[in-house]
Amino acid sequence: MNLPLRRFRRSPVRTRRKMLKALILPENKSDHRDFDLSGNDGSLLDLADAMVEQAVGYMGIPLGIAGPFVIDGKQTMIPMATEEPSVIAAASYAGNILSKYGGLKTESKDPIMTAQLFIENTDQGEAAARKIEDSENIIKEHLSDILSSMEKRGGGWRELETRWIEVSETLVINFKIDVRDAMGANLLNSAAEKLRPLVESITGGQVLMAILSNRSLERTATAEFSLPVEALGSNGFDGDETARRIVRAAEIARQDPDRAVTHNKGIMNGISALALVTGNDTRALEAAAHSYAGRTGPDHGLTEYRIAEGMLEGKLEMPLPFAATGGAVGFHPVSRWAMEILGNPDAGELSRIAAALGLAQNLSALRALVSEGIQKGHMSLHARRLAYDAGARGEEISSYAEHICDLGIRSRQEASSLYLQWKDKPENEESRKKG
Ligand code: MEV
Repeated sequence: MNLPLRRFRRSPVRTRRKMLKALILPENKSDHRDFDLSGNDGSLLDLADAMVEQAVGYMGIPLGIAGPFVIDGKQTMIPMATEEPSVIAAASYAGNILSKYGGLKTESKDPIMTAQLFIENTDQGEAAARKIEDSENIIKEHLSDILSSMEKRGGGWRELETRWIEVSETLVINFKIDVRDAMGANLLNSAAEKLRPLVESITGGQVLMAILSNRSLERTATAEFSLPVEALGSNGFDGDETARRIVRAAEIARQDPDRAVTHNKGIMNGISALALVTGNDTRALEAAAHSYAGRTGPDHGLTEYRIAEGMLEGKLEMPLPFAATGGAVGFHPVSRWAMEILGNPDAGELSRIAAALGLAQNLSALRALVSEGIQKGHMSLHARRLAYDAGARGEEISSYAEHICDLGIRSRQEASSLYLQWKDKPENEESRKKG
């Protein structure tokens, strides 16, 4: 398969789609539904074209609303965008239980981000580092135009550090900026690039590269809850024992790095879904989270639990560099209504909501893992996918999914072969009509 790439790149989005369609769908193939679904809404197509290069369409990721949550005493419904079944149900399950017992309490630190300049060919080592530190005021002054609007909002320059990497004879300059409601990538990258000639003249070296660091170590948020252990009892599982097992499961995620990564991936199931729906940078959040998990040695779980006086107490602390403005936040129409549902939070509040969601997601996953397991909950959603695959639409999806669940059908083939027979039965006429 080959596209004339130069022409493809320069063509308007609708022409690019035509070129692609001709390539992947030969004329004798009449079923274009899959392809058409990725581009039949003109306004979404224009939006995609305005957002990325060489756009050819868009992908409909499911959106859901998790809740209810009570976060710092405030009722909150949380929009999420995710392709994974059970994530929204799991968040809602924990949000609902926690809401009955005071909900979650959260805090966040100042939104400080770091940018880096790497300088080579400076033979002065530590001496060059000292020269940079002594020039902090000049460096800061050099950025005054870039930082002035951030300073008006209470953010701006914070500090500068240097490090000499002996092995590669490289001087590293890390400078920190409080970015308020922004994610900070554009601002920090512009600032770092602007400093290139200045630091070269101070050190006598050459800047190899200038870029922000996604580590976001200081931009953390925490969430906590305290829940009577009895609230965790269900389906024949005792609340005391479930709570004890949750504490053990979180301890193991602090002791076994293989488990830690999965434990933290579950936390990110919620946080990335909130990031996506609000137009935030999911990869920046993932990178910061996993780096934080490994900051003192092998990866460890980001949550901690303990039992005190009959209460299960849970806590999550992690970097959450969420933006409330800039990039796709506030540009993509879905991000606008998602922020509206959340009450148009500032970046700090959004990071606190994310921390609460991540902790709820983890509580729900651990509760399921140490009791009935997670597959049981997945089965009914799996059945809905099988029903959709078989051809069910609208209300038929629920009815047919229920039918194949009752029969214990798990394979796509079986679900498809029974579908027409089921559909033709008179008792299924009602859902067929609504479908
Ligand atoms: C699945 O997406 C997430 C879990 O694996 C998280 C966990 O194991 O803690 C269930």
